[in-house]
Amino acid sequence: MKYRIAWMKGDGIGPEISQAAIKVIEALGDLYDIGWEIRFYEMGDETKKRFGTALPEETLDGIRASDLAIKGPVGETAFESIVYLRQTLDLYANIRPARSYKGVPSVKPMDILIVRENTEDLYKGIEFKINDTAVALKLITEKGTRRIAKVAANYALNRKKKVTIVHKANVMRVTDGFFRDIAKQELERYGLEVDEKYVDAMSMAIIRNPQDFDVLLTPNVYGDILSDEAAQAAGGLGFAASANIGDESNLFEPVHGSAPDIAGKGIANPYSMFNVLVMALDYLWINKKDANARYAKEGLEKAVETCIEKGYLTPDAGGKLKTEEVTKYLEQELKAYVK
Ligand code: NAI
Ligand code: MG
Repeated sequence: MKYRIAWMKGDGIGPEISQAAIKVIEALGDLYDIGWEIRFYEMGDETKKRFGTALPEETLDGIRASDLAIKGPVGETAFESIVYLRQTLDLYANIRPARSYKGVPSVKPMDILIVRENTEDLYKGIEFKINDTAVALKLITEKGTRRIAKVAANYALNRKKKVTIVHKANVMRVTDGFFRDIAKQELERYGLEVDEKYVDAMSMAIIRNPQDFDVLLTPNVYGDILSDEAAQAAGGLGFAASANIGDESNLFEPVHGSAPDIAGKGIANPYSMFNVLVMALDYLWINKKDANARYAKEGLEKAVETCIEKGYLTPDAGGKLKTEEVTKYLEQELKAYVK
């Protein structure tokens, strides 16, 4: 298969870690016989300076016309570019794995996947003021809940076949109660093990016993909060990747920002972007049933684990290597896992 990728390098360390990831995805293409056609598009602060907008139409069109969209972090224009993009392309599923590695300190060993609804809930932005009172509306729809539950189910089928619905239905009986009931109905159709947990208890469990969980399905706000907690508890921002997925489009990106404090020094941690590739390959496997993408994903995952365990790390993670050096080691390691 040949896939078209729309790639936005972003700002700050974005171009540096993009360059590292492009080397890796090209190496994977050769090793696993997958064709890539990478096209670069504009997005972010530099784009705004040059073109007057952080997200030009051509970029949107490019993303719509591609099999995968991958972006590095952008800077101050994050809201006007990425948040706008999520809404315009209806990228309703926000997927954030939080896994620990041997060789990186974590609160507890963990490997969970947070599937967060990305378009509804209190973040719908329906807010107003009446005299001395401010009001926000919490919106949960059946359609929104069913479609996010389906995404969680598809990930769970490729993992431990277990989903925990996170909510606070003992207090938000109507809205969270609805989310829980619809989600449960949908998940049970897939023959998955389904349980549920209150969000406050879940935030504690991420620190105390994350190993008891696999896929967490959450409404928008809880997922936003829990996913930051989980990323940090698992080992930190330099490793964390995320996906925004809709029915027509997708966008894969690191969780962190443009890290202006270290930009241009060649020491950015590229593993966040390597993990972005892991997610993108997983998406091709789940959605296109491309077995080569699955093998490439598994090979890359193992190479990442091994390199981290061997201590091939940048300074933010306690290592001494430059971005380029880590990338070279990873490329070498990839060859060991080809099936
Ligand atoms: P940040 O995530 O850029 O940086 C926080 C700290 O983590 C910094 O000390 C940075 O050096 C470090 N860090 C982050 N990623 C790293 C990596 N790969 N390797 C080594 N160290 C890393 O968050 P901050 O400073 O709050 O935001 C900087 C800019 O990024 C802002 O303009 C913000 O709007 C933007 N941003 C963009 C996002 C996006 O594109 N989705 C997400 C978050 C922030
Ligand atoms: Mg957030």
